[in-house]
Order: sequence, then C-alpha cells, then structure tokens
Amino acid sequence: KKIVVLISGSGSNLQAIIDSIEAGTIAGRISAVISNKADAYGLTRAQNAGIATQVLNHKQFADRAAFDQALQESIDSYQPDLVVLAGFMRILTPEFVRHYAGRLFNIHPSLLPLYKGLHTHQRALEAGDREHGCTVHFVTEELDGGPLVVQAPIPVTADDDADSLQQRVHTLEHRIYPLAVSWFCAGRLKLTDAGVVLDGEHL
Ligand code: GRF
Repeated sequence: KKIVVLISGSGSNLQAIIDSIEAGTIAGRISAVISNKADAYGLTRAQNAGIATQVLNHKQFADRAAFDQALQESIDSYQPDLVVLAGFMRILTPEFVRHYAGRLFNIHPSLLPLYKGLHTHQRALEAGDREHGCTVHFVTEELDGGPLVVQAPIPVTADDDADSLQQRVHTLEHRIYPLAVSWFCAGRLKLTDAGVVLDGEHL
C-alpha cells in the first residue's frame, strides 16, 4: 500500500511509522512526506529514510480552499491508498476531507470524544481526569470527530503536569499509530456507512 504523510513539526509519529515499515510490520511504503512548514524536523527524518519530501506553505495561498486544492493535487500525484495526518496543524476543508473519505487518518492526544482541539493535556488535568491518552481516528468533516480506530489510555498521577502527561501520551502515540496503519495496509480495517470494521467486526 502507498502512504502519504502530512506533517507540520517534529514528526516523531512519522518516525514511528517509518521504523515499523523498516521492521516489516507495516505492509506499505511512504511515497512522500508533505509539510506546510519548511523548517519541520520531520522533513529531515523523511530525507534520512530516503523518502521524497515536499513543502507547501499555506501562507502562499489566497485562502484555505486554494491551499487544500494544491495539497490535494500534490497528494494525488502519488496515488496513495492512505493519507496520514501526523501533527499536521491545519484545519482541512470539507471538500478535502470528503475526497479522502475512508483513507484519511489522524492521531489526537486525548481520549476522544473528550478534548477535541488544542491544549488537551492541560484540559484533562484541569478536569481532574484519572485517565488520559490518545486516539487514532478516520477524519471526517467534524474536527477531531471522526470514527475511532484505536485508543490508548494512561493513568493520570497526582504529580503529573501538562508536560509530563504530554510526554507519556506521545510515547503511546508512537505505538498506536503504526498499529492502525498496519491494520489498514493489511486490509483489515475499513470505514463503512455503519462505522469502522476491523477483521470483519464492527468496532
Ligand atoms: C502529536 O501530539 C499529535 O497527537 C498531534 O501533534 C503531535 C505531533 O507530534 N496531533 P509529532 O510531530 O509526531 O512528534
């Protein structure tokens, strides 16, 4: 299977997926990594792995629709089976999201449907939650609201702050994102009208 990964920053989730491909646990390859930021460290990670990279600076487009259209054209030139958002810090237009229905993943640092949007670790702490975590989901038009694929919880301890939580959640992200990608690439995971199906069973 062919994968295109979109990033804006460090790309540690991208790295986890690269590592899983190299280890043979994902039956796919990354055709390209596309970033909206020229200085994203994830671009260096991709180059180190011999993966094609491209920068599309959203500031050079008139509006969101124009950027998303250029992004879509760039992605589609690789004819990917799966598009993976890995710390891509742009909200996507409904047209873009619909175009990739059932083949667009995101990872979010909370136990969705809790804490959509930003500052998830701080919000979990302020709410006094005993558990926090991360979620891989199919992307739909509702921000951080698409059908869940896999979720991993961690306990919140009395001495946690937003930084310590973020670190532990990030480590878990690096485990569940390659897992979800491996299921998809093995043909085990499908998004249907009735929801997500893994190995023939509804999640
Ligand atoms: C992760 O925390 C992810 O959940 C969020 O953006 C961050 C990306 O981290 N959407 P990295 O660039 O993969 O290191």
